[in-house]
Amino acid sequence: MIKKTPANNSVAKLSINNKTYSFPIYKASEGNDVIDITKLHSLSGYFTYDPGFTSTASCKSNITFIDGDKGVLRYRGYDIEALSKNSNFIEVTNLLIYGDLPNKSQLKKYHTLISSHTMVHEQILKFFNGFRRDAHPMAMMVGVMGALSAFYQDSLDIHDPHQRMTASRRIIAKASTIGAMTYKYSIGQPFVQPDNTLNYSENFLRMCFSVPAERYKISPILAKAMDTIFILHADHEQNASTSTVRLAGSSGANPFACIAAGVASLWGPAHGGANQAALEMLETIGVKRNIPLYIKKAKDKNDPFRLMGFGHRVYKNYDPRAKILKETCKKVLNHVGFKNDPILEVAMELEKIALKDDYFIEKKLYPNVDFYSGIILRAIGFPPEMFTVIFAIARTAGWTAHWHEMIEDPVQKIGRPRQLYLGKKKLTYGKKRSSKNTR
Ligand code: CMC
Repeated sequence: MIKKTPANNSVAKLSINNKTYSFPIYKASEGNDVIDITKLHSLSGYFTYDPGFTSTASCKSNITFIDGDKGVLRYRGYDIEALSKNSNFIEVTNLLIYGDLPNKSQLKKYHTLISSHTMVHEQILKFFNGFRRDAHPMAMMVGVMGALSAFYQDSLDIHDPHQRMTASRRIIAKASTIGAMTYKYSIGQPFVQPDNTLNYSENFLRMCFSVPAERYKISPILAKAMDTIFILHADHEQNASTSTVRLAGSSGANPFACIAAGVASLWGPAHGGANQAALEMLETIGVKRNIPLYIKKAKDKNDPFRLMGFGHRVYKNYDPRAKILKETCKKVLNHVGFKNDPILEVAMELEKIALKDDYFIEKKLYPNVDFYSGIILRAIGFPPEMFTVIFAIARTAGWTAHWHEMIEDPVQKIGRPRQLYLGKKKLTYGKKRSSKNTR
């Protein structure tokens, strides 16, 4: 249960047309306090206008804390640096959903529970056959994630806490299996069944890269890098895809449908699709001498080009996840022998130039998590189309944690934003037709 704590009984006062209204201010445990304007409309008749929700807290949450100015990210109070160094993805999913770190036996039991859901229904294999082989893996991910509601009908009742928990375990466990299936399907190789003796990341790598004809040896360095990527992408408070999951869930939709909505939202290049876009941009730049041209394009107001992997709505400092991945990136490239990779050289030089450029300094545009994750995933052997799928697999942890929190919140209501209507006033049908109707 999330408590509302008025900040020293303080209130915010708003004057409109000589009338003053008071609104309670709630104190955050860390970060920005908020003004509760839920009564604004009933008291004054006004709505607020905030496109992109830049100043709006859509919910109360206990899960993740970000201090964008200081570059801080914490899950349930734990710094992302400590978690990526000492924990593992499965423990992090447990932390996000339950709120505390599990003890040894709780973790073992939880791991067994998740593992018991790694396989998918045999009919899902047939479902895959309906896709074109050249479909984007995210297109398959959205479709198959939503289709799980047709296969696991015993965990659709959102009012039953047991079914809710079963659904979230199924989503986390099956996301990696489905993600690996999207890859295998797109390259025409047979699906590889999960191996529950492995940890989450090892199992995912094996399902993606092993073939029946050969023995597959898992590299501990690549498995650790994979796990770090999963941990760093597990949650990021009220981003577009998480807010989409909450909004879809607020209507009472089933968990698999809500997570499919989250996958769809993540796909966009301004959100989860940026890792694919960042790597494609590095490939387009190609060589170091082309960098100034692309920096110029990024700064040109009349050019839609942006440096992908730079900038963040919340971080106005170095993204802490990027810092961790920069180190992981060095280890992975060293391991796979890509030390002199031209793409990496372009990436390093681009970062150096952008960090010294007045435009990027003034606008506080630092490299974000996607800048490095693409390079690491490419070195592991994934094609760019798989990058956002991997982000989606990791984010199932945060999405399900937020979905649980939303359903358990006693003040939860169906999400229904308002609008500023600027369209036509009442017209009479049949009187006058527009000559401008070209759409
Ligand atoms: N390259 C060049 N200019 C940029 C960039 C960029 N990557 N990002 C922002 N700007 C400029 C933008 O043109 C604007 O300039 P002005 O004030 O003169 O109009 C100013 O910086 C503010 O940009 P904004 O779009 O209003 O800022 P935002 O907070 O709404 O956008 C963002 C954040 C992530 C969508 C944006 O920085 C961007 O498009 N970055 C590239 C895509 C990317 O890497 N996205 C991954 C985000 S991290 C993964 C995740 O958490 O989902």
